Amino acid sequence: MERTHFNGRLSESNVNEEVTLVGWVHKWRNLGSIMFIDLRDATGIVQVMVNTEEIEIPDVRNEYVIQVKGTVSLKEVENKKLKTGKIEVVAKSIKVINTASQTPLIIDDNTDALEDTRLKYRYLDLRRPCMQEMLRIRAKIVKAVHEYLDANDFFEVETPLLCLSTPEGARDYLVPSRIHKGHFYALPQSPQIYKQLLMIGGLERYYQIARCFRDEDLRADRQPDFTQIDIETSFLDQDQFLTLMEGMIAKIMKDVKGIDIELPLRRMEYDEAVNVYGSDKPDTRFGMHLIDLKDIFLNSEFEAFKTAKSVKCIVVDNIADKTSRKVIDTLNMEARKFNLKGVTVLKLENNELTGSFTKYLKEEESNALKERLNFKNNDIVIIAASDSNRDVCFGLGALRSNYAKELGLIKPDTYDLLWVVHWPLFEYSEKEGRYVSNHHPFTRPCDEDLKYLDSDLSKVYAQAYDIVFNGYEAGGGSLRIYDGKIQKKIFEILGLSEEDIQNKFGTFIQAFNYGTPPHGGMAFGLDRLAMILAGTTNIRDVIAFPKNLSAVCPMLNAPQPVDEMQLKDLHIKISDED
Ligand code: AMO
Repeated sequence: MERTHFNGRLSESNVNEEVTLVGWVHKWRNLGSIMFIDLRDATGIVQVMVNTEEIEIPDVRNEYVIQVKGTVSLKEVENKKLKTGKIEVVAKSIKVINTASQTPLIIDDNTDALEDTRLKYRYLDLRRPCMQEMLRIRAKIVKAVHEYLDANDFFEVETPLLCLSTPEGARDYLVPSRIHKGHFYALPQSPQIYKQLLMIGGLERYYQIARCFRDEDLRADRQPDFTQIDIETSFLDQDQFLTLMEGMIAKIMKDVKGIDIELPLRRMEYDEAVNVYGSDKPDTRFGMHLIDLKDIFLNSEFEAFKTAKSVKCIVVDNIADKTSRKVIDTLNMEARKFNLKGVTVLKLENNELTGSFTKYLKEEESNALKERLNFKNNDIVIIAASDSNRDVCFGLGALRSNYAKELGLIKPDTYDLLWVVHWPLFEYSEKEGRYVSNHHPFTRPCDEDLKYLDSDLSKVYAQAYDIVFNGYEAGGGSLRIYDGKIQKKIFEILGLSEEDIQNKFGTFIQAFNYGTPPHGGMAFGLDRLAMILAGTTNIRDVIAFPKNLSAVCPMLNAPQPVDEMQLKDLHIKISDED
């Protein structure tokens, strides 16, 4: 197809040039003797001016695909909304290449279409320049990653998609085997086992832009199939590894956003993140830190505060007059999501603490509170108490984040990157009544805590780290166990029988016998990184063809029932039971 230039790249330097352009009719206005067409291609939009008295023009409508031949000319008045706004193309001929029906959504950055309509007609949604821009940001991240890792002796290896269940802890997507009746492959939740086997295989520095699949409840920052920048290295300690990864993050920030970030990134202990920010992915762009009050309430008349192992609070500035009973009810509801019975709210009005709780407050407690909290008139304090410090912290942490959003405490276009390090190796699952892995069972315990493996699992910390970006978990990983005996012990602690260990991880355990190097790695969530750098809070915006929140692709209507014959081949019968 004849085409001399991309539309979005035309500028004053092309003035007086004869050009042949192609693209979609973004908008058109017929003013009688003159017609203006905004012609869009993947690079942008340029205005075409048609003198309808001089040239014959075919019928053009929005989204028609056309070819325009003409001359680039300087505009008298610049259109500041267009990158090419200083020029326009004066048409000599216009040819319709293809017509278009009226589109079910407005093809413009400002579309009013519902997300499900956008996903159903994603191929039209993708014509919107802002959507392409977000996909470009994603592509730029991938390019920076390839360049950086290549320059640092990594090489990309693909690992299978049809594999065995991996240990990330979500539900697997299963693929039935036709040849082996009743047997299933699992799609990888991550290439975890393979990448460790690659280290045993002697590759030393592996990476992969890896597709991963997890059948879990969806949220704005989760997809059932998503992409990781998956990395594994041998012979590096944690500090060396994090430093290497920081270099990659710095390159991504420079190449994609033009921002120089300061290295090394902050390394925050997990315990500090939880106790001060109420989150294992703290957003440190605003204060509102959690404050410990346990000592103030040791002799409280309020039994719950007196006996609770943990009493903490946050102070929200200048909001008492807006904190109605209804607001407090909502705070209580939110707190209950974190296993708390509720929260206690006190206000400072005319230098007096107010709120129903004040009837329990002794004067010295009231004074101690005012002093510790640096309370100002019209502030509120939200107090939570429980035997579980974790519940108190995470509950208050959620309120802290909600208030930050509501009060606009986070400046747009600010970036907050840090490592959360030194995680507990295990987490106690109330549901299962036992300890489970915080990351996965291959995470290496800290050497000094190995002694607690037999006595107190809550004291065992791990050589694990997450990268936290604007309050999102953008990636995580760990150094791995490379001693077969420790690995076996961890499996046993996690309640795996000898048979389970052999069935699920037999190869792995065996491989440990043949000279396993000390190794470790991590995986970045590519979609999440792209989401943050594209400035959206919806992960679906940076995925060309995402699923909606019900894990459905509204465009192709996947998933779908399949033919009886296909099911029969796979030895599967669908039961009517739920
Ligand atoms: P983890 O399970 O922490 O670690 O995943 C790593 C990163 O992947 C991203 N992520 C997701 N992104 C979108 N949708 C999802 N459903 C989703 N789940 C995870 C997050 C997360 O930080 N194998 C280990 C890594 C390792 O130990 O090397 C792993 O997968 O950004």
